[in-house]
Amino acid sequence: MTAPRILLIVGGGIAAYKACELVRTIRKEGGEVTCVVTDSGTKFVTPMSLAALSERPVYTTLWDLKNEAEMGHIQLSRQADLVVVCPATADLLAKMAAGIADDLATTLLLATDKPVLAVPAMNVRMWQHPATMRNVQTLRDFGIDVMEPDEGPMACGEYGPGRLPDPTAIWQHIARKLGHSSASLVDPLADQPDFDAGTHRSLHGRHVLVTAGPTWEPIDPVRYIANRSSGKQGFAIAAAAAQAGARVTLVAGPVHLETPIGVERIDVESAVQMAEAVQNALPADIAVMVAAVADWRIASYTGQKIKKRGSGPPALALAENPDILATVAAGPNRPALLVGFAAETQDVIRYAQEKRLRKGADWIIANDVSGDVMGGDANTVHIVRDNDVISLPEMPKEDVARILVERFADALG
Ligand code: C5P
Repeated sequence: MTAPRILLIVGGGIAAYKACELVRTIRKEGGEVTCVVTDSGTKFVTPMSLAALSERPVYTTLWDLKNEAEMGHIQLSRQADLVVVCPATADLLAKMAAGIADDLATTLLLATDKPVLAVPAMNVRMWQHPATMRNVQTLRDFGIDVMEPDEGPMACGEYGPGRLPDPTAIWQHIARKLGHSSASLVDPLADQPDFDAGTHRSLHGRHVLVTAGPTWEPIDPVRYIANRSSGKQGFAIAAAAAQAGARVTLVAGPVHLETPIGVERIDVESAVQMAEAVQNALPADIAVMVAAVADWRIASYTGQKIKKRGSGPPALALAENPDILATVAAGPNRPALLVGFAAETQDVIRYAQEKRLRKGADWIIANDVSGDVMGGDANTVHIVRDNDVISLPEMPKEDVARILVERFADALG
């Protein structure tokens, strides 16, 4: 069977980052992808990322005379087996239904003689609006295949249908449409993401160790030093790794979070306890140190409550805590992939690059905590590796976790 050729039109919505995952999936399954990005799509995903993933030029404008000469917009769509619009925003669906052709994407869609698949993603109210429902019906009447969006929590905080389906599910839909046999299609379990698909899952047979949450450093039996880490990002990574088939050990500082399904959780309080629990949990294939470990502890902890004295406040002498990440990096049981986190408020990437080298980690996931990331549900991260930096747009911590876990699986091969 020849490789399916997909013309992928990327619209401007928060789900556009998943188009990158879709390009990777199609390529992995042996397909070819040429990307066209709408003007608003370029605000969410850069043409450079799509060009790197597809290994092809990316087209953004109707007025690029060079490309019009070399590759007319009509020809662009004629060279594909299928045109996929992903994410198909409410605006793109409306233009497609009305036959508007005011940019490269909509002109291609009007000019194509190839089957079109639209994969909508938008806010639940936009999806359920009678105008969108009417547009979807019109497109279906035209013979355009409009996938149903997934239901779930949305980037905007609401709940309902409107989420972009998982890129694997989109690929399966594409492959089925084109009669293409793929590894994920012949797998009878692949359509059931919650089902234990055993050895097909990307981290099957791996041990993943995650640290999460803050540490509490006791001052005396009733007082402690703490920080604002909620543990949400680390717990989401542990959950995503378990869903990907890994055996997961989660060493958690004091947090108010439920243990994710399939995860072995070890609760600790202080940095010293966390360091010990991590050593006991090794060896691991992957270690992801997400915990916000306190840098210092009280040097002279006595076990007695410190009394208020008339002579003024006590002087608290501090001692340095063990650096768990650096210790694991230098130790005999160093995991094949060692990942640290860096919470910064300025020069995020530069500090992360320095931290990667200083601590001996393979990757540092840098996040800008100048906003309300700590305790919040969304995160904006940069994956800092030895020779590149991958920047993801702001997204829910669960989505960050899923993308990171797939990257971890790819890195282990
Ligand atoms: O030095 P900083 O705290 O910014 O480094 C953050 C990274 O190092 C995180 O991955 C964190 O879990 C890890 N770390 C550690 N032990 C420490 C301090 C930080 O493992 N004592």
